[in-house]
Amino acid sequence: MQNTRNVTDSVIWVGANDRRIGLFENLFPVEKGVSYNSYVILDEKTAVMDTADAAVTLQFLDNVRGALGGRELDYIVVNHMEPDHCANIEMLMRLYPGAKVVGNAKTFQFIRQFYEMDLEGRTVEVKEGDVLDLGYHKLQFVFAPMVHWPEVMMAYDQTEKLLFSADAFGSFGALDVLFNDEQDCPFADLAEMRRYFSNIVGKYGPQVQAVLKKAAGLEISAICPLHGQIWRTDIAEVLKKHDQWSRYEAEEKAVAIFYASMYGNTAEAAETLAAMLAEAGVKNTVVYDVSRTHVSYLISEIFRCSNIVLAAPTYNNGLYPTMLNLLEDMKALNLQNRTVSIIENGSWAPQSGKIMREMVSSLKGMNVSEKTVTIKSSVKEEQRQALKELCTEICASLEA
Ligand code: FEO
Repeated sequence: MQNTRNVTDSVIWVGANDRRIGLFENLFPVEKGVSYNSYVILDEKTAVMDTADAAVTLQFLDNVRGALGGRELDYIVVNHMEPDHCANIEMLMRLYPGAKVVGNAKTFQFIRQFYEMDLEGRTVEVKEGDVLDLGYHKLQFVFAPMVHWPEVMMAYDQTEKLLFSADAFGSFGALDVLFNDEQDCPFADLAEMRRYFSNIVGKYGPQVQAVLKKAAGLEISAICPLHGQIWRTDIAEVLKKHDQWSRYEAEEKAVAIFYASMYGNTAEAAETLAAMLAEAGVKNTVVYDVSRTHVSYLISEIFRCSNIVLAAPTYNNGLYPTMLNLLEDMKALNLQNRTVSIIENGSWAPQSGKIMREMVSSLKGMNVSEKTVTIKSSVKEEQRQALKELCTEICASLEA
């Protein structure tokens, strides 16, 4: 059954929601599901802008058929070759034997790696700046390598000023409403947009910066990403958020405390510090048990907050595994420019502080507090004093 929405008179959203998916990329929890966006353009020539994940094939094909209204398909534009968007290329080629696949050299390399479809006589290879003329719509290709794969490109509709942005400006979460202005708060899903950005393309800040420079030269009436809502208001704010995130600049002066704790003693230190900060007037501090919250949420909070506190016990003469996982993910995602404080615990030979310090210090632009608060088994008066001093130091950093 067709379920489509018009973006403009001649551009139709033909995507689908997947609310049954548990883990995006079999890795990231998506309690609110995910959307796979695709678009049909009706013009003298017709085009589909990317396809959709295999999980939503039937809905997607119904939507394409309905949107085309009996017309043939001329072009399948492939802006991104990750399987959640390219899974139905071959199906469309079979259903629409006159359709040609539009991509760049890397796109076709990846199609051949993933699939065995016969592309003979059915390809249109484009380069940066090339324009695909559909009649009224003229699609200009703007390459966006490594946002999030090397072949990624965006297509800018010069006529209606739509930016088909591939993975850029996307979000986790199935769509309750398609357009961001169909809810009272246009940024209602900011946390999921940040989590998507930080975990999926967070590593590629410089490449996102390059895309933002290109976008700055375009007049944009709406951003049409491959996941998440279509942005037709607040576009400057969307670009600004992505600019901050891709420069690894904190969105807020705020503290996020991340603790690992086996028996509650390191947790007590973390909770005590949070209470001290609140009593000192610091607002909006957040506390996470790294063993209980998926690392993707923790990474997202680090992208948001200026100050982070890492508290963990020593384990097997090393660092407690869930904290180690967080630090390795921070490194993998190129996190930078935060103020970091460290609390360690160890009953006979505390090592965790040294390891956390070394790992965080290896990241760019990290301002790591010289003092480590050391707990030997449990928080005593000596540690309460040390936590008070740490609280004072964090307050001073927030006011700087
Ligand atoms: Fe949703 Fe990089 O693909």
